[in-house]
Amino acid sequence: MLILAIETSCDDTAVAIYHSQQGLLAHAQYSQIELYNEFGGVVPELASRDHARKLLPLIKHSLKQANKTLSDLNAIAYTSGPGLVGALLTGSAVGSSLAYGLGIPSIGVHHMEGHLLAPMLEAKAAKPPFVALLVSGGHTLLVCVNKIGDYQILGESLDDAAGEAFDKTAKLLGLGYPGGPALSKLAEQGDTSVYKFPRPMTNRPGCDFSFSGLKTFALNTWQKCTQTEQDKANIARAFEDAVVDTMLIKCKRALEQTGFSQLVVAGGVSANKQLRAKLAELMAQREGEVFYPRLEFCTDNAAMIAYAGCQRLLAGQQDSLNINVRPRWPLTELVKITGD
Ligand code: KG4
Ligand code: ZN
Repeated sequence: MLILAIETSCDDTAVAIYHSQQGLLAHAQYSQIELYNEFGGVVPELASRDHARKLLPLIKHSLKQANKTLSDLNAIAYTSGPGLVGALLTGSAVGSSLAYGLGIPSIGVHHMEGHLLAPMLEAKAAKPPFVALLVSGGHTLLVCVNKIGDYQILGESLDDAAGEAFDKTAKLLGLGYPGGPALSKLAEQGDTSVYKFPRPMTNRPGCDFSFSGLKTFALNTWQKCTQTEQDKANIARAFEDAVVDTMLIKCKRALEQTGFSQLVVAGGVSANKQLRAKLAELMAQREGEVFYPRLEFCTDNAAMIAYAGCQRLLAGQQDSLNINVRPRWPLTELVKITGD
């Protein structure tokens, strides 16, 4: 089955061509980051307009890269939620219209299921059951994955998502957008012994997170110090250590609670080096294994949407050709995949 996939949930326009047996044939992406330099964050209306501009050229480019034509396609997968409504509508409209025009099925994919399954695009992948830590700009979830399509939430952020906390803290330190990579880079110059930030909610049972207090902690620390470049790096370091440690403690709990030995970590924040180093230590101690998507598929991409869409299409699912999006869509409300 040859699938064309479209991802437009936020500020990346992405397209992929995926074959159910041959794997990923092509993927292309256009990031809107430069559009938002002067705003310090995504502007939803600009995002939708830019998706509309970039989508068709990216589709043409990807088909050419895969040496395929529109008539070779057997199905279309597009992100139908969660995300920015206008941005989602652009991808859904193009995806459904193409499917209608070509007379082939289409499926709306859950963006976070895409992230969750992204490591499965690699040769060495986790096999369910496993625990998944999904950490992006919009979500922080610990998920018990019994099998593909069968998800139980073990914990989630009660306020800011991990990536959002990185972005907001970076912004108040005067770093660019998206702040995660910039803050993490600056933290490498920081001294761990200068500031100690709290590890939120780790003294309470359960796997929920709360990150919004850490940015306030960072702001107060910044306002009280001499505001040198070294101070900035020390704060970045203390912030990153606190977020990473908190995630580590909650992952350990989730693994203990489920008794699973495999951990999958995905979403933009899974690119964080410090997080990867600490999780490697944890999983070595537990004699378990940790799996990540390849770096370029940690952040938003269409390859993960193609993979997730393909699993559901192969299981016989498809959506109507109505333009349907779900800007808010809990992972637990996904239709189960029946069979093995
Ligand atoms: O998954 P993603 O590309 O988009 C969403 O679906 O939200 O995640 C983007 C988020 C941003 O908040 C970004 O700052 C964060 O991932 N991020 C990082 C790193 N790389 C990206 N956060 C911390 N460390 C990184 N190296
Ligand atoms: Zn994402």
